Amino acid sequence: MSQLRFSIVSSPSKSDDVSGVAVFFNGCIDDVPARVLRPFAGALALLMRDLNRKKSRDCVAMPVNADEVGFSHVALFNMVPDEGAKPDPLSAFEQVKVVAADALKFAAGKKAQRVVFFLGKHQAGLVAALVAEGAVLGHYRFDKYKSKKSDGGDDDVAKDDTKILSVELVVDKSEMAGAQAQVPESILVTEAANTARDVINEPGSVMNPEAFVEVVRREAAAAGVECEVLDPDQLHDGGYGGLCGVGRGAMTGPYMAVLRYQPKFASAKKQKKDAVHLALVGKGITFDTGGICIKPGKGMGDMKNDMSGAAIVLSAVCAIAKLGLPVRVTAVIPIAENAVDAMSYLPGDILRMKSGKTVHVDNTDAEGRLILADALWQAGHEGATHIVDIATLTGAIAIALGSSVAGLFSNDDEFGAMMLEAGDAVGEDMWQLPLWQEYREGLQHHVADLNNVGKSRAGSITAALFLQEFVPDGAKWAHLDIAGVDMVDGRWRYYDKGATAFGVRTFVALAEMLSDNT
Ligand code: BES
Ligand code: ZN
Ligand code: ZN
Repeated sequence: MSQLRFSIVSSPSKSDDVSGVAVFFNGCIDDVPARVLRPFAGALALLMRDLNRKKSRDCVAMPVNADEVGFSHVALFNMVPDEGAKPDPLSAFEQVKVVAADALKFAAGKKAQRVVFFLGKHQAGLVAALVAEGAVLGHYRFDKYKSKKSDGGDDDVAKDDTKILSVELVVDKSEMAGAQAQVPESILVTEAANTARDVINEPGSVMNPEAFVEVVRREAAAAGVECEVLDPDQLHDGGYGGLCGVGRGAMTGPYMAVLRYQPKFASAKKQKKDAVHLALVGKGITFDTGGICIKPGKGMGDMKNDMSGAAIVLSAVCAIAKLGLPVRVTAVIPIAENAVDAMSYLPGDILRMKSGKTVHVDNTDAEGRLILADALWQAGHEGATHIVDIATLTGAIAIALGSSVAGLFSNDDEFGAMMLEAGDAVGEDMWQLPLWQEYREGLQHHVADLNNVGKSRAGSITAALFLQEFVPDGAKWAHLDIAGVDMVDGRWRYYDKGATAFGVRTFVALAEMLSDNT
């Protein structure tokens, strides 16, 4: 797949390459200066007529005389809903990202090496950042195992990996500074999401606990984040019974990685004792067979994605560090493989967790909550004031909410609202569900302090209630169940098939919001 190279310009650069695609947004054309529009006026008039005739809300495009116009194609994307049409379910921000991804796909289909977006004046800095985000997310393909690489279009074609697709963002001079400030951040964060997608999409036998730890060390070092990894012996000696129990049957692991990012605070005032300390906790099951309570074979391969939460918090803390956000962030990443083996933990076992509580293992497939319980203890030990865990925790969340919206739980209304706002800002939708205390009773056990599965059919809620038992006293806590949204079957919005890394951009937005409050 080709690489993307972005530039922000006030008029399209003079290029010998006339095979590119010029992209306009219906609704923003009047905003583009006349001198920039002139070569496209004829094509745009025809396209506008087509758009109105077809009443298509999507896109019209036409080939043009490349020598006259300087491009091989002009494309017009509709951003204006037809009168009386049903409201678009996507926000305007999301629509811009989808259009950017579609435009790159169109260009790839035309074998173009250059895409120029004409954005004009109105909030062009922000729109440019959104176009960059949609382009980076939309251009991503996991094709390293394909003999023929994809160029992002519909057909697989032999392509040179090192080829560069240049993306120009044409903004009004008055918006240059804004675009130059916002676009690089947008690219950094979305590239972090793509790094997480790469790690998540790897097969379970490749991305085993040991290999994943190497990825964690590599990414932390590249971002300048302190990284401590507790190995199996340290975890055993330290009493991390949940993580050790789950990881017992695997060839490698378990591990617990702790990544500590300390910002260089600008003033002493901000180093006050009660300063916000955000912990991000991510479920890192590199493969979930279900253990002795083995899962059915159909679709089990998807369980290579059971470390999505871990890869997401890794990418998020690294992006936050690279941006230098003024808030303390610690990522806690419990890593294990839930394997079937003579050494595996057994149904009926009783685990003594790091917090001291004991848990009866009713079902070895409810392993995520066991490793997260020890990780939540660790987050408290690190001194976190705010904790968010993210996990592909329950199949039930996909039944409740489908694959477009994640389940959110929180022990603090204000913090829950902040999570919803952060998700909303980046187009990662969440729906808050209740920590319904009546269901807690179902987690009781006659021999141990807790059972690892509940009695209620509300599987996602009982899983969240189980986790709540391990939230350190006084910490504000939110839990994101991403088992429905972590991967897509086909193209969805700007995502290609496979991992979405849902959450990376929310966490960066959350860290930004908490910085303001520090
Ligand atoms: N990793 C799974 C949850 C999952 C299921 C993620 C489908 C993505 C798609 C988790 O460890 C699991 O197996 N949960 C069980 C819990 C049950 C045994 C109480 C489940 O959801 O069935
Ligand atoms: Zn499981
Ligand atoms: Zn799992």
